[in-house]
Amino acid sequence: MKETLQNKQDFYGRDYIVTPDVLIPRPETEMMVDAILNLIGKPFLPGVKPSEPKLPEDITILDVGTGSGCIAITLKQLLPQAKVIATDISDKALIVAKKNAVNLEAEVEFLQSDLLDGVKIKPDLVAANLPYVDESWDWIDKEALSKEPALALYADNGGLELIYKLIDQVVERGVKHLILEADPCQHARIIDYAKKKGLTLRETRGFILYFSE
Ligand SMILES: C[S@@+](CC[C@H](N)C(=O)[O-])C[C@H]1O[C@@H](n2cnc3c(N)ncnc32)[C@H](O)[C@@H]1O
Repeated sequence: MKETLQNKQDFYGRDYIVTPDVLIPRPETEMMVDAILNLIGKPFLPGVKPSEPKLPEDITILDVGTGSGCIAITLKQLLPQAKVIATDISDKALIVAKKNAVNLEAEVEFLQSDLLDGVKIKPDLVAANLPYVDESWDWIDKEALSKEPALALYADNGGLELIYKLIDQVVERGVKHLILEADPCQHARIIDYAKKKGLTLRETRGFILYFSE
């Protein structure tokens, strides 16, 4: 049998297995974990006071497009009282994410789903680092990115197709809190779209946007 190439990547001080079936976790995504810890009133930077908690720790968090599982698994480790569910459209990515959850002893529930289509529950918070790269951007190094799955990187409509669809689904289902990652050059369009759908921008942190009703 052909052996799958495996590597390790640090994310939030933890080692994650990565294979060609998943995105290599990026440092900018760590700020999504910071933003969620801050929402729950947990410290995330030495010497910085967290905000007054806006959400309790025992919430249900849904990580959409989990890839290696880095966001969901890190959150479950840092917020043991939270219920954490992670989805991906890719079965191959879910195999890697499940391995990481076993290795890091995190009780995360995994589900194969196209965005929220297969999700039956209503989470308190949706967190998503979905594909948002526009193939026409001239600053991207396509050769370097070819080692990662196109399904994890690229989206149509200026990279915003999946983000817009997720915003629609979150609003239709009445989910109150949404945290997204996108390139800062896309933020104004996302904020405008979300506003039209009734969501308010509460915070921007690097590549991360936090919206609530
Ligand atoms: C940018 S990667 C993020 C992976 C991981 N969350 C991280 O931050 O490293 C996007 C992930 O979304 C998944 N994905 C793409 N289209 C999707 C869809 N329609 N529904 C759910 N997941 C999708 C990809 O398979 C990929 O694992």
